[in-house]
Amino acid sequence: MTMSPKEEILYLRSELNRHNHNYYVNNAPEISDREFDEMMKKLERLEAEHPEYDDPLSPTRRVGSDLSRGFKQVAHIYPMLSLGNTYSIEEVDAWVKRTSTALAGQDVSIVGEMKFDGTGISLIYEHGRLVRAVTRGDGEKGDDVTENVKTIRSIPLQLSGDDWPEMFEIRGEIVMPWKAFERLNADRAFNEEPLFANPRNAAAGTIKLLNPAEVAARGLDAYLYYLLGENLPFDNHYDNMLAARRWGFKVSDAMTLMTSIDQVDAFINKWDTARKELPVATDGLVFKVNSLRQQLNLGFTAKSPRWAIAYKFAAERALTRLRFVSFDVGRLGYITPVANLDPVLLSGTVVKRASLHNEDIMTTLDIHEDDMLYVEKGGEIIPKITGVELSEREPGAKPVVFVSHCPVCGSPLVRVEGEAAWICPNKDGCPPQIIGRLEHFVGRRMMNIDGIGEETAAALYAAGLVRNIADFYDLKASDLMKLEGFGRRSAERVIEGIEASKSVGFERVLYALSIPFVGETTAKKIARTVKSLDNLMAMTPEQLESIEDVGKKIAVSIADYFASPEKREMIERLRRAGVTLAIDEDEDAEGKTDLLAGKTFVISGVFARHSRDEYKALIERNGGKNVGSISKKTDYVLAGENMGPAKLEKATALGIPIIDEDTFLAMIGQ
Ligand code: IVH
Repeated sequence: MTMSPKEEILYLRSELNRHNHNYYVNNAPEISDREFDEMMKKLERLEAEHPEYDDPLSPTRRVGSDLSRGFKQVAHIYPMLSLGNTYSIEEVDAWVKRTSTALAGQDVSIVGEMKFDGTGISLIYEHGRLVRAVTRGDGEKGDDVTENVKTIRSIPLQLSGDDWPEMFEIRGEIVMPWKAFERLNADRAFNEEPLFANPRNAAAGTIKLLNPAEVAARGLDAYLYYLLGENLPFDNHYDNMLAARRWGFKVSDAMTLMTSIDQVDAFINKWDTARKELPVATDGLVFKVNSLRQQLNLGFTAKSPRWAIAYKFAAERALTRLRFVSFDVGRLGYITPVANLDPVLLSGTVVKRASLHNEDIMTTLDIHEDDMLYVEKGGEIIPKITGVELSEREPGAKPVVFVSHCPVCGSPLVRVEGEAAWICPNKDGCPPQIIGRLEHFVGRRMMNIDGIGEETAAALYAAGLVRNIADFYDLKASDLMKLEGFGRRSAERVIEGIEASKSVGFERVLYALSIPFVGETTAKKIARTVKSLDNLMAMTPEQLESIEDVGKKIAVSIADYFASPEKREMIERLRRAGVTLAIDEDEDAEGKTDLLAGKTFVISGVFARHSRDEYKALIERNGGKNVGSISKKTDYVLAGENMGPAKLEKATALGIPIIDEDTFLAMIGQ
């Protein structure tokens, strides 16, 4: 199918808007920077060829936005632009020549720097003291994150020396060093929280936390690379940055002054590999014309300075042979194809397996037996297969086909309606599904039974000691001691953990049951609405659908689950064991805190995670107060989608923080 230029322009605009949102707002990009840049370039080209489809709101006309509610917004003194970029050394050389020509053959010095892969920041200093720190935002205005930035030890709050201008701005990048990033993700994995894909997202997410103490604990760092102001000490970038270093700023040692294209090329060749030794992530190099007078002469395009260019490193890629494709079976029966590879070194780690996600992705890649596959990491932690080297394909190699039967229990697979996924329907007879559910049941956010992890769950199953979740409550210390690695002490601790799990509360039990499509949030919502498992089991799918956020798919799934006699029997056993299967008044009281004591809230708009009434209840349960209209006494406006414009204006005028639901839930520790 081919698109008309107009269709293609509209398509690219909507895709780029979506990816911008994923990147800047969700901190969860779906595509690589390179893919994004290529789409952007294509759109720029098409728009240039077809000025008749011009749109002032096209993504080519802006730099992207990271503005979030909950911070005061501040206008930048000088707009924060992005940089033109390229992946080719030839284009960098061409840029050097172009600038020399534009400067009528004057001598041009170039400063080469690392392109740090974090989140941009603008710092304002007055009389040698840090007065404000602002994120890039939409380029025109950003979020005031001064309190958070003050926790970064490498940013001086008071400058050394005395030759700094009375007032100036310095820009740089807030980064999360690899070590801190690994520590943070290890903590998050332990708490079963979603991992950050790369240090850039981790840095961007951290600087927007509402609690500076939490920011301080995450080990951010900052490199500075751009000085702006009226009375800078020197007429060139390089000397100004050396001055900034003397004042106490962290200016990278990689910064190099160069006078020829050969030096520029050597700089690229050196850092293409040497960057792997750096303690922080970099995604390229930046070249800048050194003389400020020449910078002024070259000026800016709408989006970026003509006096600078970014050279981006290619994502790290390796070519390795496919050994075989295996098919993993998850707790809910989903089948995931996984490429098992000849081990290959990629960005410092050995890669042996890479997910192929689902049948559609596998088919699109068109993988054949023994193929040589490209594996990429590009700053991400989970490797992915990006392509096949066709020239290396063995003649007669057969395509790898998706399995038709469960690789473990042999049941014919069924396709999930409306999804690219296949599942094994043998829920109660397929070992990896059963073990997966056992593991899920004992997890921290579910029944939180200490001492049982993936291996113990599998061993208990293999030993015939636990076949379904109710069996945990019949375990004795002597049973556990039959397993390798368990002594009396550790076995008794597990039994204590099992005992304690009986009172984790109905909400968690409901999530722990592994009912398809009933995730943590849905389980909470249902538990709070229906109050007990007995009430829930008595409901028809139609009645279930009347619960907020429960659609047909979830309603049918719940009804199916409880229709099974085995499940009902299992639940009776949980009940007899003393597991809490209802919300009682005491438990309600337990949810009460003083976290919002003395704080007054106004709620406005439509929310995604809870209803307005639930938010009102949450505010009260945590000691806060709800009021209907905004006044000087209001502490926060909790805003959903489509907040009323009058409220927005009033809150902004009074400087009252406007917070979104995620921020609010974080405030009450959810
Ligand atoms: S100079 C007007 N230098 O890359 C030019 N930027 O795509 C100002 N970045 O927004 C930017 N390292 O967040 C410059 N050595 C460096 C950089 C750098 C990283 C980031 C910065 C900027 C983005 C441009």
